[in-house]
Amino acid sequence: MIDSPRYIEFSSIGQPDIGYISIAEYQDLVPFKINRVYWTYFTPNHVIRGNHAHKSLKQIIVAVCGVIDFKLEDRDGNTYEFVLDSPEKGIFIPEGYWRTIRFSHSAVLLCLASDKYDENDYIRDYSVFKKI
Ligand code: TYD
Repeated sequence: MIDSPRYIEFSSIGQPDIGYISIAEYQDLVPFKINRVYWTYFTPNHVIRGNHAHKSLKQIIVAVCGVIDFKLEDRDGNTYEFVLDSPEKGIFIPEGYWRTIRFSHSAVLLCLASDKYDENDYIRDYSVFKKI
């Protein structure tokens, strides 16, 4: 089965007067072993980040704070748009999707990644991505 990008709904434990906790665990919502966690923050709203695809990396992304817009494209030109506007919501991104990302002023992006950082796993040239 070929994976597609999709929303993930995290359950939240808690209530308004005490706050909430959400959980992501391997095999329960996370379809890969997590080998790296990173977060990005203080991204000005006018900056478009991403502009790359990964050859083999799988990711789950959560906007733990603020709003993050994701545009994804596969090699066949199919496009997907996701709005992360709640810490209870994530997206699963399989390998092979070109992404552009826009952040609201206070957004913090949390990424659970299947592998350690490897620049050789990046495709940063859009024309190369479309030709593979
Ligand atoms: P990049 O993945 O291109 O960021 P974005 O998609 O948010 O625009 O990474 C930006 C820079 O940070 C790039 O020079 C690589 C470096 N980096 C690491 O060294 N380790 C990491 O785990 C990540 C995600 C990035």
